[in-house]
Amino acid sequence: MALLDSNEWQDLSGKLAAASTSVQVQELRAEWIGRRGRITLALKALSNLSPEERRQQGQVLNAAREQATRLIDERLEQLRQQEEDRQLLNERLDMTIAGVEPKVGLLHPLTRVRRLLEDLFLRMGFSLAYGPEIETTWYNFEALNIPENHPARDMQDTFFVDLPGMVLRTHTSPVQIRGMEAAAGSLPVKIIAPGRVFRRDDDATHAPMFHQIEGLVVDRGITLGDLKGTLVAMATELLGASIGTRFRPSYFPFTEPSVEMDVTCAACGGTGCRTCKGTGWVEILGSGLVHPVVLQNGGYDPQEVSGFAFGLGIERLAMRIFGLDDLRPLYQNDLEYLMAFDRYTGRPML
Ligand code: PHE
Repeated sequence: MALLDSNEWQDLSGKLAAASTSVQVQELRAEWIGRRGRITLALKALSNLSPEERRQQGQVLNAAREQATRLIDERLEQLRQQEEDRQLLNERLDMTIAGVEPKVGLLHPLTRVRRLLEDLFLRMGFSLAYGPEIETTWYNFEALNIPENHPARDMQDTFFVDLPGMVLRTHTSPVQIRGMEAAAGSLPVKIIAPGRVFRRDDDATHAPMFHQIEGLVVDRGITLGDLKGTLVAMATELLGASIGTRFRPSYFPFTEPSVEMDVTCAACGGTGCRTCKGTGWVEILGSGLVHPVVLQNGGYDPQEVSGFAFGLGIERLAMRIFGLDDLRPLYQNDLEYLMAFDRYTGRPML
């Protein structure tokens, strides 16, 4: 049996050199020295030979086997090296390529303004209070000194629901009563109540659902001066120390006297323009001293205690802070629009 002449060796080393993957090399290994490989079969065939020939050819074949094994292993190692080099080259970091900026979430502008207000009042010693959005007409109207059929109800276009005596609350003022009830006669009552309110209104500056923050303080000897001091402090912190404020007499059934607070117009700085209808002022909230009937409905004696209350629209304040003339996009969940508020980073809370 003519085994492994020089042609065959050339065949093996040529094929090994041509193999470009380790799978191809493993195939050659099987073909040559595998269980049914050429050299393996030749070694098995030795048993048919005479002892003399067996010894002689056995040496040759065993040497060939060693040689083939070495060639195959060398080629495998080469390919492994090449693969590793290729990988290292591919994985090289190119420090000049621009990074992928991670998308960072952002609080909704209305949430940011609400938290700004909450933070401010919490620091003044108020605590948070909440009431239901579907409210009884008692808490929303009667307890607040707005009797049925009173023209004051016309001030608020109410959404009625299919439950007798229930409405979508038109303001956060019902939490005044609930807050006094929860305090159960203890003093002081000092709460702010943020939340959703609902009115039949829908245009660029009015949404059928919007947010208010109600404030209520009840204690012995509370005066209009306390109300003014608190609200001016709030306005200067929110809108800057140079903001102008003024209080105008107004009317709410649940406060007496009632006052509205104006701040200087952002558009003209107070000189008068279209936005402020030439007055230089824009209204930002309603407030007043708590009406004796309301104190009574909350379980307090108006002969002993007095209080002040205010209610302000979060959307309106947000429009002022962010310089918006339309509040509707705030509710449309257009991420690009909302993410643009990212630029307003002037304050830690905003
Ligand atoms: N509830 C009133 C409104 O929604 C605002 C207000 C609150 C006025 C508290 C006076 C006192 O318009």
